[in-house]
Amino acid sequence: MAAEDRSGSDNWVDEHRWANTPTEVFSKWQEDRVEVLKTVPLFSGLSRRHLNQVARYVAEKEVEAGAVLANQGRTESEFMLVLSGTAKVERDGHDIAQLKAGDFFGEMSLIDGEPRSATVTAETACLLMVIDRDPFDKLLDSVPEMQKLITLALCKRLREADSALAALN
Ligand code: CMP
Repeated sequence: MAAEDRSGSDNWVDEHRWANTPTEVFSKWQEDRVEVLKTVPLFSGLSRRHLNQVARYVAEKEVEAGAVLANQGRTESEFMLVLSGTAKVERDGHDIAQLKAGDFFGEMSLIDGEPRSATVTAETACLLMVIDRDPFDKLLDSVPEMQKLITLALCKRLREADSALAALN
């Protein structure tokens, strides 16, 4: 049986109506971080203890449309998760993916220490959840479920990239 895909979700926003505007998500976030984290596919399977741990490590960041969130080729060290809004992923000036509420990015550089593989830009105003390198490493060490889900997301991206390459041939 295929592993459950909680690396991102097509219907996450639909299931969580409050996630429709950054303001609604922000006020919910300020009220109860753990309640918001529970609805994010990456964290939904975590125990209360691990959710509290994540909540302690993360900071929120509000950005306007057009803000560059990751720069291809630069050494940067933040993991980000989109709580509201959309962002696009570009490589060498070509769009390769769109990220929406529930999706995350920036894990690749944090895992392998290499420069950013792509540029990520906010398409709309976005509310982001940000985790720096050290807390990210600590979370991966102490929450195996997160390691698994991030690995699943990487596999999914690799398969998509392989299919896109095959379609070119
Ligand atoms: P990182 O290389 O740290 O910074 C750019 C990020 O873009 C990368 O991590 C991934 O999180 C994300 N990314 C790269 N390629 C893709 C892709 N094909 N689909 C979705 N996200 C991607």
